[in-house]
Amino acid sequence: MDSLVIQGGTRLRGSTRINGSKNAALPIMAAAILASGPSTLIDIPNLSDIGHQINLLRELGATCERLADGSLQINVTDESNSHARYDLVRKMRASICTLGPLVAKRGYARISMPGGCAIGDRPVDIHLRGLQALGAKIELNGGDITATAPHLTGTEIFLGGNFGSTVLGTANVMSAATLARGTTVIECAACEPEVVDLANYLNAMGAKITGAGTPRITIEGVKALTGTTHKIIPDRIEAGTFMVAAAITNGEVHLQNVQLDHLMAATDKFRAIGVLVEKDNKDGVSGCIVSSLRRLEATAITTQPHPGFPTDLQAQFMALLCIADGNSIITEKIFPDRFLHVAELSRMGARLHKEGPTVIIEGQKQLIGAPIMASDLRASAALVIAGLAAKGTTTVNRVYHIDRGYERIEQRLNALGAQIQRIDQKELDL
Ligand code: EPU
Repeated sequence: MDSLVIQGGTRLRGSTRINGSKNAALPIMAAAILASGPSTLIDIPNLSDIGHQINLLRELGATCERLADGSLQINVTDESNSHARYDLVRKMRASICTLGPLVAKRGYARISMPGGCAIGDRPVDIHLRGLQALGAKIELNGGDITATAPHLTGTEIFLGGNFGSTVLGTANVMSAATLARGTTVIECAACEPEVVDLANYLNAMGAKITGAGTPRITIEGVKALTGTTHKIIPDRIEAGTFMVAAAITNGEVHLQNVQLDHLMAATDKFRAIGVLVEKDNKDGVSGCIVSSLRRLEATAITTQPHPGFPTDLQAQFMALLCIADGNSIITEKIFPDRFLHVAELSRMGARLHKEGPTVIIEGQKQLIGAPIMASDLRASAALVIAGLAAKGTTTVNRVYHIDRGYERIEQRLNALGAQIQRIDQKELDL
């Protein structure tokens, strides 16, 4: 198992390109199941989660091939197996977004029920309620969910839950409804840019979806969809993570392939604490320049569904606020238990006080390097970011989590001036 060894204290400077979005790519790859003929997906990042989704799609009868230009071609050639096994699903919860496409296209899906994970319980009850409303018969057998429907029928569906809407639940129900008979209206749909990207892909395949990006999505069912070519949107969470890395090191970094309008809540917080964020659309490529020249100010953040502040940037901002001037407060409203980074940041000298879903952060002048343990993808990113600013050496153990969502993160940060070495844990134990 790999660890990242970080020598803190260097300012990040230079330019890097943000990859296509993992969380847009995963449901779009699953939706390729709905089509006849190949889909070519451009800007699919090279991540372990994408590798797991490819393995699952292959198991479900699709060929998945990386073309010379890096795009991914998916073509379903065999519809005989619609069973997503536990050993594939447990590696990546997003496998659940094959459920809607499978039942809509093949009339049957069997998917192992995803378990909880480091960031909380993560139920799928709303996904199932939505598919049931479309007419699918849902059963739970031996830890597997089965969904059966000779055909789906459009209807009105409310997808709200106690923590707002559901991103992958909206993806599942919207994808399934494209092949339903009649019209489906989803109320309280997730408004995330990844849902809009999926709708754009589905529409390019022949679906009739309007309203994606708003809480009401209308889907007029069609008889069939055909494969198409689609470019994945830039990863707003990867962009936000690099922006925090630039800010915490008082650096100046140019990021290419960023859609700042997907990051308005985060940009607003950056500016509020004293980070300069400027749009930079050179040569028709959208991007931004992030710089900070002084000690940052404290702030209050509450995570919310889009367009509110994203839960996927909560941990990274906590690392940043650990060295801000004054007391900050972060409240997590999407995944109230998503705080495994708190104990690890505290090992680096952060002063954090957790009370339920809220953490008060007493800003310190400096963090001190320490051996720490990564627990989930975004927490890992936060710990690496903290290490960039800390005095001395920080060793982040169990970094396989970070490879799920960030491609070659240490190489890309090093190209900006960071000093990070990837080491096999065994070498550290010697
Ligand atoms: N929820 C339910 N029932 C459901 C579904 C969700 O109660 O059936 C609850 C969840 O427990 C949570 C809230 O609703 O409290 C929102 O969860 P959501 O379903 O929106 O999360 P998700 O779709 O499973 C995606 C991203 C997550 C991101 C969340 C929130 C992917 C692959 N995952 O998960 O990304 O945190 O939306 O924006 O798109 C990450 O990339 O690190 C990551 C965890």
